[in-house]
Amino acid sequence: VKVRLPVLSNLPVQLTSFVGREAELSELRRLLTVGRLVTVAGTSGLGKTRLAVEVASRAQRDLPDGVWFVGLAALADPVLVAREVAAVLGAREQFGEPLLGTLALHVGARRMLLVLDNCEHLLDACARLAEGMLRSCSGLRILATSHEPLRVPGERIWRIAPLGLPDSGGAEPTPLETFAQSEAVRLFLARASLLRPQFTLSPQNAQTVARICQRLDGIPLAIELAAGRSEMMSVDDILELLEDRFRLLTGGSRTGLQRHQTLRAALDWGHHLLDDGERRLFRRLSVFPGGFELAAAEAVCADAALPAGEVLSTLSRLVDKSLVVPEAGLKGHTRYRMLETVRQYAAERMHESGEGDETRRRHVEHFLGVAEQAASFERRPGQAYWLERLESEHDDLRAALEWCRAHDAARRIRLTLALSWFWLVRGHLGEGREWVQGALAVPSVRPLEEAKARYWLSRLAFWQGDYTFARAHAERSLATFQELGEEVEAGWSRNVLGTICAYAGDDEAGQRHLDAVIGSTGDVDLRVDSLISKGELLLLRGELAAGRELLERSLSSAGGPDARWPVANGVLFLAIADFLERDYERARQRLTDCLPLYRQAGNRYALAGALDVFAGLALVDRDPERALRLEGAAAAFRDQIRAPLPPRWHARVRESVIEPARAAAGAAADRAWSAGGRMTMDEAVALALADELHPAPVIPLQPLPDFAGPSPLSRREREVALLVARGLTNRQVAKHLVIAERTVEGHLERIRGKLGVHSRTQIAVWVVERGWLGG
Ligand SMILES: Nc1ncnc2c1ncn2[C@@H]1O[C@H](COP(=O)(O)OP(=O)(O)OP(=O)(O)O)[C@@H](O)[C@H]1O
Ligand SMILES: [Mg+2]
Repeated sequence: VKVRLPVLSNLPVQLTSFVGREAELSELRRLLTVGRLVTVAGTSGLGKTRLAVEVASRAQRDLPDGVWFVGLAALADPVLVAREVAAVLGAREQFGEPLLGTLALHVGARRMLLVLDNCEHLLDACARLAEGMLRSCSGLRILATSHEPLRVPGERIWRIAPLGLPDSGGAEPTPLETFAQSEAVRLFLARASLLRPQFTLSPQNAQTVARICQRLDGIPLAIELAAGRSEMMSVDDILELLEDRFRLLTGGSRTGLQRHQTLRAALDWGHHLLDDGERRLFRRLSVFPGGFELAAAEAVCADAALPAGEVLSTLSRLVDKSLVVPEAGLKGHTRYRMLETVRQYAAERMHESGEGDETRRRHVEHFLGVAEQAASFERRPGQAYWLERLESEHDDLRAALEWCRAHDAARRIRLTLALSWFWLVRGHLGEGREWVQGALAVPSVRPLEEAKARYWLSRLAFWQGDYTFARAHAERSLATFQELGEEVEAGWSRNVLGTICAYAGDDEAGQRHLDAVIGSTGDVDLRVDSLISKGELLLLRGELAAGRELLERSLSSAGGPDARWPVANGVLFLAIADFLERDYERARQRLTDCLPLYRQAGNRYALAGALDVFAGLALVDRDPERALRLEGAAAAFRDQIRAPLPPRWHARVRESVIEPARAAAGAAADRAWSAGGRMTMDEAVALALADELHPAPVIPLQPLPDFAGPSPLSRREREVALLVARGLTNRQVAKHLVIAERTVEGHLERIRGKLGVHSRTQIAVWVVERGWLGG
């Protein structure tokens, strides 16, 4: 069976054409084969990023494990470098331990290319990361872009030149083709014709266009800015205004400008030509380090001087002028972004304008609104979208938190509390823990907020396996909530505390806390969750029937169409109960429903738990390699967020799944395990769910035998049993007999009941014993 692998790349999609640079492309590709770290160095706007993306996308075919783009421009803090890489590679956590180790482990021997874009402001952190990763990961190559080299041993430094310029110095009149062939002119033409489709090079304008490109030193960004003017201006006007501006800047001196001064002059020039409304929006947009959607721009940048209704039209004029770049965002929305150089220039203008604080306050207000709205979707339909959305705005959320840290304690706490569930569910455990701890240390924090912060801190630490810390904070939050008379909140703390106690081995305290919550609360979510917690505890103690009863009660307490998310964890434990009671098909069925939910939420913790059960099922199906691949994936996901499987569960999974699977798989075990460890969430889900990966029937289906003799099974049941014994999945059986899959399940349930067996394998054995399979 051919499984089509998803494209392994997150390269940004470019909406404009790439021009020239053929020789550079092949030289860089060559360098990447002889060296493992290549740095494209040069000042702003020369086209380093664009070139690196082009090289990477052409190299994709040779890199089975993909090419991964990590944009560092928006990051202010060196510790975020490794985190950003981890986030892109899906290995995203650090707490207390250097993340570099996790990253190295994650990449292992995979053959991949990492593009580290815009390293210049974080040189040390980038150098350390590159050196460390290259040392431990033999199949890794890194392509960096930076104003300065990283200075790492083995680094190949490649300095980028401006685009080729037309040579028009000679006495002879230059033929049109000479102009048309130069890269700089081609870029100008490509961009100008986006605004004016009829725009072409003619004997009348060629000299002028060439002159503009020369004046701008062949710097692509500067050329794009100039070409962005061609909708309203003739090229003669563009050149004239540019010359004026340059004369102004050089005080009339004829000596040229340094390249970065040229770009600055081009930015100044572009800015000078904006109208008031465009300037206002332009500088205000600099508060978005990670890009933005229209709605955010309207909320943050509009005021009396710039009405919200004008933001869209103003924004599209900035896009035309190449000051803002559009790209594809979530749910088909367009996202916008400024190139970092442009954003920094805009930030300077913002600083001069004195509008900085006001705009940043609106930025914080907006993202606080987003975060609080998102938080209201916790355990509700729609939460997957909101989690995804928070993930895509993570840079902006960080920037808002940073600003609050210095300026606004109250909003800092609110924002932190609103984001805590996101950090938890998405596995940003270490980062979340730092922010929450920081908020706790704010002198003006109120008791209620402090208790909430401690509650989240305990949940984050609990997933990290730090039970002592988690327990201490859960106890303190419980005490405070009780003092304040916050019954429901207190119940949540107690609920967490109960499970922490159970995981730490103190069943008695665990039961006491959970019983107290179950016996007293009227809050539906809390009731559901505490029944699940207690059910889990009973499973851990081996009290299967009692545990199942509580878990089933939790499902029925939830009820209603909104109940999918709150009960998802309960379903996981029910599936574990099914599994332990050898009702394998039921376990599979339950998890087949729930696995996509965990995936949608990006919840690696829950996903890994479900994979453990699927691995157990694979073992039952006598496919130990599949079991090990699933376990390898589960282990990797836990590793990525540094959230170990709680020891009591770990012992069981090891004894009942991993060790037997290893013994059965023999020499193939390690390979299967590490193949699993390289899977993305989607691949792991596909592996867990895919019927195709069950051993397919080898023999073409023979006609069904004429069943003779007495049998407890009905004719239909006999047919189903036979097909199952031939290795067909339920879906395949359904198709073959032209009946619904549900009906097949019903037959199987009755067959199991009549034969007193638990698994497909046992049904198969029963069929074989009757000789129905033939020779
Ligand atoms: N060969 C090219 N073809 C088409 N467009 C290009 C090319 N090179 C650069 N550009 C465009 O010029 C602009 C600046 O390029 P880019 O962002 O790659 O510069 P950079 O060197 O990475 O700058 P910085 O140091 O500020 O990050 C971008 O809009 C980019 O799309
Ligand atoms: Mg760049």
